[in-house]
Amino acid sequence: MKIVVTGSLGHIGKPLTEALVREGHSVIVISQNPERQKEIVAMGAKTAVGKPEDVEFLTSTFTGADAAYCMLPISFKEPDLVAYFKKIANNYALAVRRSGIKHVVLLSGWVAGVISSYEEIENIFDELPDVAVTHIRPGYFYSNFFDSMTMIKENGLIAATFGGDDRIVFSAPSDIADTIANEITCQHHGTSELIAMRKVHYVASDEMTCNEAAGILGAAIGKPGMKWISVPAEQMQKNLESAGLSPKLASDLVEMQSPFAMD
Ligand SMILES: NC(=O)c1ccc[n+]([C@@H]2O[C@H](COP(=O)([O-])OP(=O)(O)OC[C@H]3O[C@@H](n4cnc5c(N)ncnc54)[C@H](OP(=O)(O)O)[C@@H]3O)[C@@H](O)[C@H]2O)c1
Repeated sequence: MKIVVTGSLGHIGKPLTEALVREGHSVIVISQNPERQKEIVAMGAKTAVGKPEDVEFLTSTFTGADAAYCMLPISFKEPDLVAYFKKIANNYALAVRRSGIKHVVLLSGWVAGVISSYEEIENIFDELPDVAVTHIRPGYFYSNFFDSMTMIKENGLIAATFGGDDRIVFSAPSDIADTIANEITCQHHGTSELIAMRKVHYVASDEMTCNEAAGILGAAIGKPGMKWISVPAEQMQKNLESAGLSPKLASDLVEMQSPFAMD
């Protein structure tokens, strides 16, 4: 199969590309950075250099492919993250229509089952006629811990709008990538079987409380008994604004975290 992978060699894109190349597929990896070409080619894939903001570029890259994996990057430059996600989702959808690609796997998230604006993003893909669409809804990526590295080093803890004994579903990027690879390849049985198909696939690698997760990390890095504390949403909003984020982007990020704190 000829498969387009968006999201470059990111947390999901890299293991996904490796899995698809290993299975003998022809893989085109979209990256906005021409310097990634060497690594992508060394992995046995091809590169398409461009941005998800560019519909013409997406359309020409999708043309002739059997399937596409679509991800929505988090851009801290955008003042309104949900509006940005919707813009990129509409770009993908338009490129899918124009290119005639028949199978799309969207990296969505658990949040789409809880917050309507994220479900609306999935709906943009659901409206595609004669295209099989799978929404992948992972939980909290393990790779998010890298974003907490400074806080862990400087304060010896993790802080979010959820924490303590809140139970979290964690998703390993490698498990998410395997699930996507499986959706793309195993489902490709023929168009007629795929036409009415709309699937939602949750990915869960583990489930534990925030403090259990912090304890495991702390033990591994010489900070035994490390805690994961929860701070009020209003405080997190202020912290993010003090770090330079716009009020709307800060509130989008706080809202995105809210489902993790649910029972
Ligand atoms: N973190 C979570 O807990 C969670 C949960 C559910 C769903 N998600 C979804 O997962 C996505 C992250 O996936 P990931 O971890 O695989 O991605 P990632 O590793 O953060 O980024 C993948 C690549 O996308 C490209 N990129 C980054 N920002 C971009 C931008 N503004 N415009 C265009 N390209 C950009 C970069 O590659 P190049 O520079 O080479 O282009 C980057 O390496 C989130 O955006 C969200 O939609 C996350």
